[in-house]
Amino acid sequence: MDYLAELHKHLHIMPEQASAHAGRVDDLFLALGIYSVLLLAILVILIVYFGIRYRAGSPGGRTGPNPSGHWPEITFASVLFVTFLGFFIWGGELYLDIYRGPKDATTINVVGKQWMWKVEHPDGTREINTLHVPVGETFRLRLSSQDVIHSFFVPALRLKRDAVPGMHNTAWFTATRPGTYHLLCAEYCGTDHSRMRGKVVVMSRADYQDWLTRQGHGAKPAVLGKQLFHSHGCSGCHMGKANVRCPDLAGIYGRTVPLAKGNVIMVDEAYIRDSILQPSKQIVAGYAPIMPSFSGRISEGELQNIIAYIRSLRPGEWELENTR
Ligand code: CUA
Repeated sequence: MDYLAELHKHLHIMPEQASAHAGRVDDLFLALGIYSVLLLAILVILIVYFGIRYRAGSPGGRTGPNPSGHWPEITFASVLFVTFLGFFIWGGELYLDIYRGPKDATTINVVGKQWMWKVEHPDGTREINTLHVPVGETFRLRLSSQDVIHSFFVPALRLKRDAVPGMHNTAWFTATRPGTYHLLCAEYCGTDHSRMRGKVVVMSRADYQDWLTRQGHGAKPAVLGKQLFHSHGCSGCHMGKANVRCPDLAGIYGRTVPLAKGNVIMVDEAYIRDSILQPSKQIVAGYAPIMPSFSGRISEGELQNIIAYIRSLRPGEWELENTR
């Protein structure tokens, strides 16, 4: 696909490429564009040709079947079908590559709210409307919204993912070029939607380390989550095995648990979030639906912190905590 990359350099129709997958997105976009223009040209030429050949009063033959049968139509339709199927596979593979992401990427929490982006780094550093990242490292964004649907859009990274209230969306990227890039909200979200802008600052590793040490960051998400776990009373039921009314949460993340309805479910971030906001939806087998809903009582940011804390719990955590 090198010839496509060359073409990009001279065309200047796309924003600069600052992420690992940007080039692949552009190749697909350009190939689709070229193919569509070619098709359009063929169609226009045929329309003009037939328009002239069969104009009113022209001698072009109008009776009898086409001597070549249906083959022109069949060929045209088949070629279109196969080539667009090719584009579908190409696009599908790229999409899955971008949106599956690696398992071990560092997670950055992002909450959209009217009208700003709140960013929380794993070490507790917080930013508003800016996101600093080092070059060459893969990050996973855990996106959510506190009010309405927003969309986290960084054209230079070829990254766009909705932040939807009530769920977590995930996006991955590896920035490849230092610089400052536009961050936009790409979903109309109210009066000041157009002002919901920010920037992504991609730095060299050394500059990033400098920046991090200058931040005087707050507590880590899991540490804040632990405080919330206690202050909201979760610890009263979910800590240790002394109380048998509720499932013990230590080491539960990433495991499957049986539900009262008979099926099993994987404990992931979405399940933990659901269990906090709609606890009676998926009751674990053997327990009564006695947990109150925390919907409306905790913010998106708090929810992300509690989830980070529950993720961090290892089997036997409570015994460890008691001895500390
Ligand atoms: Cu947030 Cu538009």
